[in-house]
Amino acid sequence: MKYQKLISNKYSVLLLSIFFIGSIIASCTHDDRIFEPAPVTPGETQVKLQVAYDATDVAFRFTWKTQKKLYPTGLPNTGKNYPMQFHDMLMHNGTKFDRLPSGERMEEDRISVMLNKTQAGIQGFAEAGCAIICHTNMDSHHLLTNDVLDHWHWRGARSGPMGYAEDVAINNTERIRDNLGTLPTKFLRSGGDRLRENQEALAGTGHPVLVDGLPRFVFNKGKNMPSNFTIPSFFLVGDNNAILINPQGEIPTVKNVDRNTSLLVVYQDKTFDTRDKMNSLDLGYLVYVALGSVDHLPAHLRDVASTDFNTWRSYWAAESNITTSAAALTKLNEIHAEWNSSNKKAMVTRSVGFIYPSDQHDVKSERSFNPNTNEWTVTLFRKLRTDSNRDEDLSELRTGAIYGVSFAMHDSGAGSETHDISLPYKMSNANSADIQAVSVSNIQSVDWNSLPALETNWVKQALMPKYTSDWLKSAAHPGASSLESVTCATCHTDDKSLLNSLVLD
Ligand code: HEC
Repeated sequence: MKYQKLISNKYSVLLLSIFFIGSIIASCTHDDRIFEPAPVTPGETQVKLQVAYDATDVAFRFTWKTQKKLYPTGLPNTGKNYPMQFHDMLMHNGTKFDRLPSGERMEEDRISVMLNKTQAGIQGFAEAGCAIICHTNMDSHHLLTNDVLDHWHWRGARSGPMGYAEDVAINNTERIRDNLGTLPTKFLRSGGDRLRENQEALAGTGHPVLVDGLPRFVFNKGKNMPSNFTIPSFFLVGDNNAILINPQGEIPTVKNVDRNTSLLVVYQDKTFDTRDKMNSLDLGYLVYVALGSVDHLPAHLRDVASTDFNTWRSYWAAESNITTSAAALTKLNEIHAEWNSSNKKAMVTRSVGFIYPSDQHDVKSERSFNPNTNEWTVTLFRKLRTDSNRDEDLSELRTGAIYGVSFAMHDSGAGSETHDISLPYKMSNANSADIQAVSVSNIQSVDWNSLPALETNWVKQALMPKYTSDWLKSAAHPGASSLESVTCATCHTDDKSLLNSLVLD
């Protein structure tokens, strides 16, 4: 029933849109953006969501079409479809490794979802969805009430390759994250962080890697990883294992997301996740062993008598198997020579993900990408109920509770951040629900093809500037007075549909 309705809406919008084919639908969230009109194939939708649960766990499975990367225009990746599993790469700018110039930066693909039980739920969320947290033209994201809204965020580079999604929450001022951090993740900085951290270039004198500002972490070339993958280079490589030197030209050709599932990970806490995802070398350690100096290290690692320093040193001694000055110098020279041989264009990733026990890291993920259909499939897994007061308790799915669900996809900007959002939907175990959560014996062995799906399209980009709590509640919106009592789709049907009629290609 539910998709028949959506599809028939789509056809009527298609008929209308025939009159407008050739016109440009332009809009802006953080940036302007243009959709190219394309015919709608019957039954084709932009995004599909399935939900299943067993006695203890729940799984959300998103399947969505990537769309052509649109920004910035005029670069080799503009207009190309590809799974973006890299983020914010660093390349040498003649002085040091730095981010690509603004306007040429490339963003990872992402999917995110917000959840809240409708009974005694957050005011307006079930009816208006994520619009209630968007203010001042989408620049500010927070609740107006004193609640906490659960928000899972899968990132194509910063958490997906590690098998996690970031589990955050929104309160009345911000997106809340924790400040924990355990060794070895603390080696990077003194505090804790989320599933990633940024890396900077080294600086100093005494070895060319310092003088030339190489990054602190490069890949551990030659290390054998799970699935018999041997790390082929100190720097990022394409599908043919050759060093990437032209990000916008070469990254779109990398369509395999299974080749090395841990490509972007520097540190992990092995007591938390025992699978080996440690694939880097810390050049800061090699410089210390080679030269005996610590000036290039972060402040908390400069005291050689400290526990932090000594834990860090033994950690990298075991990981790199390098403990003598001669061996460290040889390795540093080899890395420097490989960078030189790439014409000083080799790239590294800026995101060096890591994990440690925290309620931010309790959503696990699996991913795949079909290059023929240009579709991501990402499944997010979590306990129905966790101990965290930032996590929505989903255990009442089993007893028929209704949850409001809204989701969004970032898959559009090459150098900017523009996202597509869903309408608000309701999820329960009833087969009349927008999203029917299905009870199964074990979510690890679900036959997803046999489960019902919500199939839908994203809200039209042209409407994004108005998709804020501020505008929707303003006098400019005819639906303002009933915004939090009925869902958007109650009024927005047929020619008032908020959904995009154009399947992205
Ligand atoms: C009580 C009916 C009603 C409800 C509920 C309602 N709207 Fe509207 N909305 C309207 C009407 C009527 C218009 C003006 C006609 C139009 O532009 O489609 C409108 C206009 C809009 C527009 C501007 C459309 C444009 O082309 O500029 C947006 C965006 C919008 N609504 C979003 C929403 C969202 C999001 C929700 C749910 C959170 C919602 N509306 C709920 C009745 C409603």
